[in-house]
Amino acid sequence: MTSREIRQKFLDHFARHGHTIVPSAPMVIKDDPTLMFTNAGMNQFKDLFLGNAPIMHQRIADTQKCLRVSGKHNDLEEVGIDTYHHTMFEMLGNWSFGDYFKKEAIQWAWELLVDEYKINKDDIYVTYFGGDEKDKLPADSETRDLWKRFMPEERILPFSRKDNFWEMGDTGPCGPCTEIHVDVRTPEEKKVKSGRDLVNNDHPQVIEIWNNVFMQFERKADGSLVELPARHVDTGMGFERLCMVLQGKRSNYDTDVFQPLIQAIAKISGKAYAGTAQEKSDIAMRVIADHLRAISFAIADGQLPGNTGAGYVIRRILRRAVRYGYSFLSMNDPFMNELVPVLVEEMGTQFPELKKQQAIIASVIAEEEKAFLRTLEQGIKRFQALAMDAGVVGTAVIPGAKAFELFDTYGFPIDLTELLAREIKLGVDMHGF
Ligand code: ALA
Repeated sequence: MTSREIRQKFLDHFARHGHTIVPSAPMVIKDDPTLMFTNAGMNQFKDLFLGNAPIMHQRIADTQKCLRVSGKHNDLEEVGIDTYHHTMFEMLGNWSFGDYFKKEAIQWAWELLVDEYKINKDDIYVTYFGGDEKDKLPADSETRDLWKRFMPEERILPFSRKDNFWEMGDTGPCGPCTEIHVDVRTPEEKKVKSGRDLVNNDHPQVIEIWNNVFMQFERKADGSLVELPARHVDTGMGFERLCMVLQGKRSNYDTDVFQPLIQAIAKISGKAYAGTAQEKSDIAMRVIADHLRAISFAIADGQLPGNTGAGYVIRRILRRAVRYGYSFLSMNDPFMNELVPVLVEEMGTQFPELKKQQAIIASVIAEEEKAFLRTLEQGIKRFQALAMDAGVVGTAVIPGAKAFELFDTYGFPIDLTELLAREIKLGVDMHGF
């Protein structure tokens, strides 16, 4: 099944169950001081949950562009190093606003995964909220019992508030949730260790794909929970992870969502993508493919790179990608802008804003790349002078104050200083940095 078919099947399934299909909200948020970017499908529905806006449709489904790079839900450090976190990702979601609740949500989720997508049911594990003393909440045994209709009890696992009580932020709508995890390891691997022991354990092949939240409370600023005027369902399924499962891959980057970009990067850089976990050039290609999507969608939504706020977040993501390309793929000239047409080809139908803004996206990225590559070059010259000094005075260490100056005055990333120093067997004194 191609990723396009997978997305469509999700929407068709929920349309059949009476859901209105709506377009993704923008990924960039302009009118909420607590949130710069959409980080969950439910953001645009916050006021409906809280009872502050009228409900037009009681059942909605969509695919939402999300970005998790700041605030409570922040995946940036994992991106590219592992194979299943992203900055920008699509979240497939279905919602009930004061309409159906746990029973239907669980049943329709199961039917979609097992009957429609044909995921082997023995590979599925689910979790439910085990209760919380501090919040005085009992375990969600109702959810546990509903799952028992479909699967044996040993694959239905309780977890604490950290994993199974979903909150949008420090305040706002929240509630117990049930997560669906899939074990895509080989039969041999499964024999050695049960998937049950790997759920919620950061295993790259035993991963959460779908979260179903039962919105019931509002978390107030003083930490207390207040019952919402009605009960709602809020779900989010990681589209890229779902594609990995359905396409029989072991990494999101091996799916048709990312491969066209990865192959284009491989071609431009003249290096093959081997898909290894540790090889720096493989990590770099994953970082670049991921970050290109985040930056392009942000620009399409009107957020240009800049020096403050959301603009700075986008600039940092872009620079992280340029730096990986520079350090590990020897990309010393702008190249990311050349990848924009590949992205538009893959995603421009579902997200027409990308196609419409293609020329702007490419030119903004090209300008940013040029400016940052100049910074990198100047920084490297300055670094070489410092390295020479360190060698001459026989300390074999670059003083922390100098490394800081490189960063502060020249905009040269500290991890690049460390990397270059390591390459010529110099240390960097990080004390006080
Ligand atoms: N709002 C829930 C999440 O983002 C579905 O996981």
